[in-house]
Amino acid sequence: MTNPYTLEGRTALVTGGAQGIGAAIAQGLVEAGARVFVCDRNAEIGEATAKDLGAEFVAADVTDSASIDAAVEHVVATAGSLDVAVNNAGIVHNHPSEDLSDEDWRRVMSVNLDGVFYSCRAEGRRMLAQGSGSIINTGSMSGHIANRPQPQSAYNAAKAAVVHLTKSLAGEWSHRGVRVNSVSPGYVGTELTKRGMNNEEWRTAWIEGTPMGRVAEPREIAPAVTFLASDASSFCTGTDLVVDGGYTVW
Ligand code: NAI
Repeated sequence: MTNPYTLEGRTALVTGGAQGIGAAIAQGLVEAGARVFVCDRNAEIGEATAKDLGAEFVAADVTDSASIDAAVEHVVATAGSLDVAVNNAGIVHNHPSEDLSDEDWRRVMSVNLDGVFYSCRAEGRRMLAQGSGSIINTGSMSGHIANRPQPQSAYNAAKAAVVHLTKSLAGEWSHRGVRVNSVSPGYVGTELTKRGMNNEEWRTAWIEGTPMGRVAEPREIAPAVTFLASDASSFCTGTDLVVDGGYTVW
Protein backbone atom coordinates (compact mmCIF):
# COMPACT_ATOMS: atom_id res chain seq x y z
CA MET A 1 0.00 0.00 0.00
CA THR A 2 1.31 3.48 -0.78
CA ASN A 3 2.08 5.80 2.11
CA PRO A 4 -0.74 8.42 2.22
CA TYR A 5 1.59 10.93 3.91
CA THR A 6 4.15 11.02 1.10
CA LEU A 7 4.56 14.12 -1.06
CA GLU A 8 6.86 12.42 -3.61
CA GLY A 9 6.34 13.97 -7.02
CA ARG A 10 4.48 17.04 -5.69
CA THR A 11 5.53 20.66 -5.97
CA ALA A 12 4.95 23.00 -3.04
CA LEU A 13 5.16 26.75 -2.43
CA VAL A 14 5.50 28.24 1.08
CA THR A 15 5.05 31.99 1.55
CA GLY A 16 6.88 33.54 4.49
CA GLY A 17 9.16 30.52 4.18
CA ALA A 18 12.44 32.29 4.91
CA GLN A 19 12.32 31.84 8.68
CA GLY A 20 10.28 30.77 11.70
CA ILE A 21 7.19 28.63 11.17
CA GLY A 22 7.38 28.92 7.36
CA ALA A 23 10.95 27.58 7.24
CA ALA A 24 9.94 24.65 9.47
CA ILE A 25 6.93 23.95 7.21
CA ALA A 26 9.20 24.05 4.14
CA GLN A 27 11.54 21.56 5.84
CA GLY A 28 8.64 19.24 6.70
CA LEU A 29 7.44 19.27 3.07
CA VAL A 30 10.97 18.57 1.78
CA GLU A 31 11.27 15.65 4.22
CA ALA A 32 7.93 14.28 2.96
CA GLY A 33 9.40 14.24 -0.56
CA ALA A 34 8.07 17.42 -2.17
CA ARG A 35 9.96 19.79 -4.43
CA VAL A 36 9.65 22.97 -2.39
CA PHE A 37 9.82 26.65 -3.32
CA VAL A 38 10.49 28.95 -0.37
CA CYS A 39 8.76 32.25 -1.15
CA ASP A 40 9.46 35.42 0.81
CA ARG A 41 9.91 39.16 0.43
CA ASN A 42 13.26 38.80 2.22
CA ALA A 43 15.47 37.37 -0.55
CA GLU A 44 18.66 37.28 1.50
CA ILE A 45 17.32 35.04 4.28
CA GLY A 46 15.00 33.22 1.90
CA GLU A 47 17.82 32.17 -0.47
CA ALA A 48 19.93 30.93 2.45
CA THR A 49 17.05 28.96 3.98
CA ALA A 50 16.15 27.39 0.64
CA LYS A 51 19.76 26.32 0.14
CA ASP A 52 19.94 24.80 3.64
CA LEU A 53 16.76 22.82 3.13
CA GLY A 54 17.45 21.57 -0.39
CA ALA A 55 14.64 23.79 -1.65
CA GLU A 56 14.45 26.59 -4.25
CA PHE A 57 13.73 30.27 -3.67
CA VAL A 58 11.26 32.58 -5.36
CA ALA A 59 10.81 36.18 -4.24
CA ALA A 60 7.38 37.73 -3.72
CA ASP A 61 5.68 40.34 -1.63
CA VAL A 62 2.22 38.90 -0.95
CA THR A 63 0.69 42.38 -0.55
CA ASP A 64 1.26 42.89 -4.29
CA SER A 65 -0.98 40.56 -6.30
CA ALA A 66 1.19 40.86 -9.44
CA SER A 67 4.18 39.73 -7.37
CA ILE A 68 2.53 36.55 -6.04
CA ASP A 69 0.98 35.87 -9.48
CA ALA A 70 4.51 35.97 -10.92
CA ALA A 71 5.87 33.67 -8.20
CA VAL A 72 3.19 31.07 -8.94
CA GLU A 73 3.93 31.37 -12.68
CA HIS A 74 7.63 30.88 -11.95
CA VAL A 75 6.95 27.69 -9.95
CA VAL A 76 4.72 26.24 -12.66
CA ALA A 77 7.15 27.20 -15.44
CA THR A 78 10.07 25.63 -13.53
CA ALA A 79 8.46 22.53 -12.01
CA GLY A 80 5.47 21.94 -14.32
CA SER A 81 2.79 22.01 -11.61
CA LEU A 82 1.74 23.45 -8.27
CA ASP A 83 0.25 20.82 -5.97
CA VAL A 84 0.63 22.26 -2.47
CA ALA A 85 0.57 25.91 -1.41
CA VAL A 86 1.09 27.16 2.14
CA ASN A 87 0.10 30.79 2.69
CA ASN A 88 2.02 31.60 5.82
CA ALA A 89 3.51 35.11 5.46
CA GLY A 90 2.34 37.27 8.34
CA ILE A 91 3.19 40.19 10.60
CA VAL A 92 1.95 41.44 13.95
CA HIS A 93 1.52 44.95 15.32
CA ASN A 94 0.82 45.51 19.01
CA HIS A 95 -0.81 48.83 19.72
CA PRO A 96 -3.88 50.02 21.66
CA SER A 97 -6.83 50.14 19.26
CA GLU A 98 -8.01 53.63 20.26
CA ASP A 99 -4.73 55.01 18.90
CA LEU A 100 -4.09 52.62 16.04
CA SER A 101 -3.37 54.57 12.85
CA ASP A 102 -5.07 53.88 9.52
CA GLU A 103 -1.64 52.96 8.14
CA ASP A 104 -0.89 50.36 10.83
CA TRP A 105 -4.36 48.81 10.53
CA ARG A 106 -3.93 48.59 6.73
CA ARG A 107 -0.37 47.26 6.95
CA VAL A 108 -1.47 44.27 9.05
CA MET A 109 -4.55 43.65 6.90
CA SER A 110 -2.56 43.91 3.68
CA VAL A 111 -0.13 41.13 4.63
CA ASN A 112 -2.31 38.91 6.84
CA LEU A 113 -5.58 39.04 4.89
CA ASP A 114 -5.14 40.62 1.43
CA GLY A 115 -1.91 38.65 1.01
CA VAL A 116 -3.61 35.35 1.85
CA PHE A 117 -6.44 36.07 -0.59
CA TYR A 118 -4.09 37.13 -3.43
CA SER A 119 -2.00 34.00 -2.83
CA CYS A 120 -5.01 31.65 -2.72
CA ARG A 121 -6.41 33.25 -5.90
CA ALA A 122 -3.17 32.81 -7.84
CA GLU A 123 -2.65 29.24 -6.58
CA GLY A 124 -6.32 28.31 -6.92
CA ARG A 125 -6.47 29.39 -10.58
CA ARG A 126 -3.60 27.07 -11.39
CA MET A 127 -4.86 24.17 -9.26
CA LEU A 128 -8.42 24.42 -10.63
CA ALA A 129 -6.99 24.30 -14.15
CA GLN A 130 -5.08 21.09 -13.32
CA GLY A 131 -8.02 19.71 -11.29
CA SER A 132 -6.08 19.04 -8.09
CA GLY A 133 -4.27 20.74 -5.24
CA SER A 134 -4.10 21.42 -1.52
CA ILE A 135 -3.92 24.92 -0.07
CA ILE A 136 -3.11 25.44 3.61
CA ASN A 137 -3.40 28.89 5.16
CA THR A 138 -1.65 29.78 8.40
CA GLY A 139 -4.37 31.10 10.66
CA SER A 140 -3.86 31.49 14.40
CA MET A 141 -5.59 30.77 17.67
CA SER A 142 -6.01 34.58 17.50
CA GLY A 143 -8.73 33.88 14.92
CA HIS A 144 -10.70 32.16 17.70
CA ILE A 145 -9.80 34.11 20.86
CA ALA A 146 -8.50 37.62 21.58
CA ASN A 147 -4.99 37.40 23.00
CA ARG A 148 -4.01 39.00 26.28
CA PRO A 149 -2.43 41.09 27.64
CA GLN A 150 -1.07 42.53 24.38
CA PRO A 151 -3.34 44.63 22.15
CA GLN A 152 -3.48 43.42 18.53
CA SER A 153 -6.99 43.91 17.18
CA ALA A 154 -5.96 44.12 13.50
CA TYR A 155 -4.01 40.86 13.77
CA ASN A 156 -6.86 39.04 15.52
CA ALA A 157 -9.45 40.30 13.04
CA ALA A 158 -7.28 39.34 10.06
CA LYS A 159 -6.71 35.82 11.42
CA ALA A 160 -10.45 35.28 12.07
CA ALA A 161 -10.98 36.35 8.46
CA VAL A 162 -8.32 33.91 7.23
CA VAL A 163 -10.16 31.01 8.91
CA HIS A 164 -13.43 32.06 7.28
CA LEU A 165 -11.82 32.80 3.89
CA THR A 166 -10.47 29.25 4.06
CA LYS A 167 -13.98 27.83 4.57
CA SER A 168 -15.38 30.06 1.80
CA LEU A 169 -12.77 28.91 -0.75
CA ALA A 170 -13.23 25.27 0.32
CA GLY A 171 -16.93 25.67 -0.45
CA GLU A 172 -16.17 27.04 -3.91
CA TRP A 173 -13.30 24.84 -5.01
CA SER A 174 -13.43 21.42 -3.31
CA HIS A 175 -15.73 19.73 -5.84
CA ARG A 176 -13.21 20.77 -8.52
CA GLY A 177 -10.33 18.93 -6.78
CA VAL A 178 -8.82 21.75 -4.73
CA ARG A 179 -8.89 21.35 -0.93
CA VAL A 180 -8.43 24.44 1.26
CA ASN A 181 -7.66 24.15 4.98
CA SER A 182 -5.95 26.18 7.69
CA VAL A 183 -3.62 25.49 10.58
CA SER A 184 -3.96 27.73 13.64
CA PRO A 185 -0.93 27.75 15.92
CA GLY A 186 -0.80 28.95 19.48
CA TYR A 187 2.31 30.77 20.72
CA VAL A 188 5.46 29.71 18.87
CA GLY A 189 9.01 30.92 19.57
CA THR A 190 9.96 32.98 16.46
CA GLU A 191 10.98 36.53 15.53
CA LEU A 192 7.29 37.46 15.59
CA THR A 193 6.93 36.62 19.30
CA LYS A 194 10.41 37.80 20.38
CA ARG A 195 9.15 41.11 21.75
CA GLY A 196 6.53 39.32 23.89
CA MET A 197 8.91 36.62 25.08
CA ASN A 198 11.28 39.38 26.25
CA ASN A 199 8.46 41.06 28.21
CA GLU A 200 7.96 39.30 31.53
CA GLU A 201 4.28 40.20 31.88
CA TRP A 202 3.44 38.98 28.38
CA ARG A 203 5.58 35.83 28.58
CA THR A 204 4.06 34.83 31.94
CA ALA A 205 0.50 35.35 30.68
CA TRP A 206 1.22 33.38 27.50
CA ILE A 207 2.75 30.44 29.32
CA GLU A 208 0.22 30.38 32.17
CA GLY A 209 -2.57 30.58 29.58
CA THR A 210 -1.29 27.48 27.80
CA PRO A 211 -2.26 24.17 29.48
CA MET A 212 1.01 22.62 28.26
CA GLY A 213 2.87 25.40 30.11
CA ARG A 214 5.19 26.40 27.27
CA VAL A 215 5.34 27.89 23.78
CA ALA A 216 5.90 25.67 20.74
CA GLU A 217 8.95 25.29 18.57
CA PRO A 218 8.31 25.94 14.86
CA ARG A 219 8.94 22.27 14.03
CA GLU A 220 5.91 21.32 16.15
CA ILE A 221 3.58 23.14 13.72
CA ALA A 222 5.01 21.68 10.50
CA PRO A 223 3.57 18.11 10.69
CA ALA A 224 0.00 19.46 10.81
CA VAL A 225 0.68 21.22 7.50
CA THR A 226 2.31 18.14 5.96
CA PHE A 227 -0.79 16.13 6.92
CA LEU A 228 -3.15 18.63 5.27
CA ALA A 229 -0.89 18.79 2.19
CA SER A 230 -0.93 15.02 1.71
CA ASP A 231 -3.49 12.40 0.66
CA ALA A 232 -3.72 11.38 4.34
CA SER A 233 -6.19 14.27 4.65
CA SER A 234 -8.06 13.52 1.40
CA PHE A 235 -11.51 14.13 2.98
CA CYS A 236 -10.46 17.28 4.92
CA THR A 237 -11.47 20.58 3.43
CA GLY A 238 -12.54 23.84 5.05
CA THR A 239 -11.18 22.62 8.36
CA ASP A 240 -9.03 24.57 10.80
CA LEU A 241 -6.49 22.44 12.65
CA VAL A 242 -5.67 24.19 15.95
CA VAL A 243 -2.16 23.42 17.28
CA ASP A 244 -1.98 25.53 20.43
CA GLY A 245 -0.81 23.44 23.41
CA GLY A 246 -4.39 23.71 24.67
CA TYR A 247 -4.60 27.53 24.86
CA THR A 248 -8.15 27.67 23.50
CA VAL A 249 -9.60 25.16 25.99
CA TRP A 250 -9.68 27.84 28.74
P1 NAI B 1 8.31 35.37 11.36
O1 NAI B 1 8.28 36.85 11.53
O2 NAI B 1 9.41 34.59 12.00
O3 NAI B 1 8.29 35.00 9.80
C1 NAI B 1 7.40 35.61 8.92
C2 NAI B 1 7.97 35.53 7.52
O4 NAI B 1 7.02 36.15 6.63
C3 NAI B 1 9.29 36.28 7.34
O5 NAI B 1 10.21 35.47 6.63
C4 NAI B 1 8.90 37.52 6.54
O6 NAI B 1 9.94 38.02 5.71
C5 NAI B 1 7.74 36.99 5.73
N1 NAI B 1 6.84 38.05 5.25
C6 NAI B 1 6.31 39.06 5.99
N2 NAI B 1 5.61 39.87 5.19
C7 NAI B 1 5.69 39.36 3.94
C8 NAI B 1 5.17 39.77 2.69
N3 NAI B 1 4.44 40.89 2.55
N4 NAI B 1 5.43 39.01 1.60
C9 NAI B 1 6.19 37.90 1.71
N5 NAI B 1 6.73 37.48 2.87
C10 NAI B 1 6.48 38.21 3.97
O7 NAI B 1 6.88 34.88 11.88
P2 NAI B 1 6.31 33.44 12.30
O8 NAI B 1 6.08 33.45 13.75
O9 NAI B 1 7.09 32.37 11.68
O10 NAI B 1 4.86 33.52 11.63
C11 NAI B 1 4.49 32.81 10.47
C12 NAI B 1 2.97 32.79 10.41
O11 NAI B 1 2.46 32.12 11.56
C13 NAI B 1 2.32 34.17 10.39
O12 NAI B 1 1.19 34.14 9.53
C14 NAI B 1 1.88 34.35 11.83
O13 NAI B 1 0.81 35.25 11.95
C15 NAI B 1 1.47 32.94 12.16
N6 NAI B 1 1.41 32.64 13.58
C16 NAI B 1 2.51 32.79 14.38
C17 NAI B 1 2.43 32.50 15.73
C18 NAI B 1 3.58 32.65 16.65
O14 NAI B 1 3.38 32.55 17.88
N7 NAI B 1 4.81 32.88 16.17
C19 NAI B 1 1.17 32.01 16.32
C20 NAI B 1 0.09 31.85 15.38
C21 NAI B 1 0.22 32.17 14.07
